[in-house]
This record gives sequence, structure tokens and C-alpha cells, in this order.
Amino acid sequence: MLSQQTIDVIQSTVPVLEVHGEAITRHFYQTLFTAHPELLNIFNHANQKQGRQQAALANMVYTAALHIDNLAAILPAVRQVAHKHRSLGIVPEQYAIVGTYLLQAIGDVLGEAATDEILAAWGDAYQVIADAFIGIEQDMYSEAANQTGGWDGFRTFKVAKKVQESELITSFYLIPEDGKSISSYKPGQYISIKIQPAGQEFTQIRQYTLSDAPGKPYYRISVKRESGGSDRPDGVISNYLHNHITEGSLVELSAPAGDFILDLEDPRPVVLLSGGAGITPMVSMLNTLVESDDQRSITFLHASPNGLSHAFRDHVDQLSQEHVNLNAHYCYTSPADSDLENELVYKRRYMDAAWLRQVIQEPDANYYLCGSVTFMRSVYAELLSIGVASDRIHYEFFGPKASLVPA
Ligand code: HEM
Repeated sequence: MLSQQTIDVIQSTVPVLEVHGEAITRHFYQTLFTAHPELLNIFNHANQKQGRQQAALANMVYTAALHIDNLAAILPAVRQVAHKHRSLGIVPEQYAIVGTYLLQAIGDVLGEAATDEILAAWGDAYQVIADAFIGIEQDMYSEAANQTGGWDGFRTFKVAKKVQESELITSFYLIPEDGKSISSYKPGQYISIKIQPAGQEFTQIRQYTLSDAPGKPYYRISVKRESGGSDRPDGVISNYLHNHITEGSLVELSAPAGDFILDLEDPRPVVLLSGGAGITPMVSMLNTLVESDDQRSITFLHASPNGLSHAFRDHVDQLSQEHVNLNAHYCYTSPADSDLENELVYKRRYMDAAWLRQVIQEPDANYYLCGSVTFMRSVYAELLSIGVASDRIHYEFFGPKASLVPA
């Protein structure tokens, strides 16, 4: 238990630390990786370069610190990160390392303003936050290892099949090399894949959503080849998977994780909205519903530049012919003439309120949303504008979390 005095010191210094947040976390990561270069095997180097991870960790520590006297209030956020940590294989000993360098960074950046009292209070608070994460993660490790077909850490899988789904997205069917069973998962969950590209010093870990219904002898991921731009380089791992991982290749996977999942207990209709590679959890959810002969109304809405970039279109078209409770519609920003022959295609820059009103026949539904941050911000705002309650909108970001509310 923290003393009231410690809690007061923490809560009064959070705003100061937030002002220096970026400098503290930049310094923290530099000193952390200099002293512990082995941690470069688990941190995403691209996120580091873009500063996205720095912001995510700092914000979480400050949010937790603000709620230090009632961590239960931020439990959903802690659990979400704990899923990611479990999937990455983070262990309790690493919390002590992170704590040491975080405190050192606070001291270095604040200089004389960081009194012994402030540093001691932050040391105690960090321990409370770390213990909360460690406890939840230990339960998650046990759960992953103890279920049928489950395992701890990383396990070797073989690429059984590679299928191109669109000009940019390719599916990989992964079966365990040991030939034993694999654990089930909930539609919407992801796995981590660990790879050491030839010639690179460190392993790299990435999360990819499982794109098929559970209950198969394989896991399927569907990976978009990430091309860079002026602000970022080409995706190292997605390109490596596309170019160098072939049928028969071996990769390391951790067990399924994640809390963006289809709620099958709630009998309401579902509306699945995706942009680009955000289609992967939606196809998993859709396949799960139709394969279990679930009779609820399903609306499947997907945004893509055009038919060439649109993955799984034939599959979803086929399902919508076979299942009267499924309505699929597509929103293309730059359709080819042939795309417009498909009556399901709507030409628009974004899914807008007028179209959403028209295609969603049963609005009293649960809404699942996945895609780029820009896509999600726009669709989220449009959904609110047509009267959808925010607690009915469930969403997943690829990469470190961001806010859906415009700054
Ligand atoms: C990811 C917070 C401890 C390694 C994250 C994220 C947050 C976070 C908010 C982003 C989650 C997302 O992507 O949505 C924290 C907090 C910690 C803590 C508050 C301490 C109380 C640790 C420790 C390690 C670690 C001890 C291991 C050395 C990572 C890694 C990622 C991550 C590798 C994924 C980042 C990436 O690859 O870009 N953490 N974390 N974290 N965390 Fe932690």
C-alpha cells in the first residue's frame, strides 16, 4: 500500500512529468537499450523510430500514476497492454530493468527538481503499477499454456500454404511443426510472429490478426505488404514475409492473445466495418458467425481503393449469396470501371453517414471497426452522427494505440 503522502506527491508531479514526457521516454529508451541491447530483440524498431512506442508507454505510466489509488478504474487498459506483453513474452524480471531506467531518466531530465522525495515516490508507484501488470500477465501465461493445444512462449510453426488475397495482402497458413494440436482462439485475436531476417542482428516480433474462424488445424494470418513513404520506410517484416517466407518455411509463434473479440453472448446484430488490412479480424468474425450457422443479421462493410486491393472479395460475395442474413457492401475510393459493375460497390472517399444509413438495415447492433487511424476516426465520427452509441463501437488499432477523438 502506498501512503497518502506518496500518492499526493505522485498526483501533483504527473503534470510536470507529462510536460517533459517525451524527453524522459527518449532518454529512457536510449539508456535502456545501451545497457540492455538484448531488449532490441523484442521491441519493434519501426515503432521506436517513429516515437509511437515511447508515447504509448509514457502515457500509460502517467495514466496509471494518476489512478494510483484506484488502479481498478483503468483495468481494461491494463489488460489490453498485458495481452500484448504476454504475446511478446515479457517476464517479471524485465519490469525491474524498465523501472531502474525509467527512474534514472526522470532524475536526469528533471535535474534538481527531482528531489529524493519525488524519486522515492515514483519508485514506489512504479512498483505498484508493475506488480499489477505482472499479476495479470502471470494469469494470462497460465491460461495460454494450460488450455488444450496451448503453449508457453514461442513455438515453431511451418508455413503449409501461402495464398495471395489481393495485390498487397497474402495469407499464410501455419501448422505446428510438432504435429500436435493448437489452442482455439476468439475471433479478433492475434498471434505474435518472431523472425530473424537473414543478416540482421536482432529478432523482430510482430502481431498479426488471425483471419479465419477458430477450430481449424491451422492458424491463418493475412499480411499486407507495407510500402513506405516520405515519413516511414518499407515494412521490414511484412516485406520479409512476402518475399522470403515460402511454403515449408519455419517461423516462431506465441499463443493467441488480444481483447478485441466478437461478443457471441450478446445476441444483437453485428456490423463489421473495415478499411484495407483491417479486414482480417472481420473475416475471422464473419467466418465464425456463418460457420456456426448464427442467424443474426450481419452487415459486412469494407473500404478499399479498388477491386485489385480488396482482399477476400470473392469469399465474402460467395457467403452473402449463401446466407440471407448477411449483407455485404464495399466503399471504393478509386474504383476501376469494372468494379462499378458490381452493385455492392459505392464510390466515395470515406464511408459516410448517408451510405451507412442506407446499408445498415438493423442499426441496433454491435459495431466492430478496424483499419488505419484515419479510417477509424472518420467512420467512428460518422457512426456517432447517425446515432450509434459509443459503447456499441468496438475497435482495434494496428500498432500502438491512439485516440479516435480528433485532437
Ligand atoms: C508495449 C506499457 C513494461 C515491453 C506497451 C504498450 C504500452 C506499454 C502502453 C503499447 C501497447 C500497444 O501497442 O497497444 C507498459 C507499462 C509498463 C511496461 C506501463 C510498466 C509498468 C514493459 C516491460 C517490457 C515491455 C518491462 C519489457 C522489457 C514492451 C514491448 C511492447 C510494449 C516490447 C511492444 C512495443 C513495440 O514493439 O512497439 N507497453 N509497459 N513493457 N511493451 Fe510495455
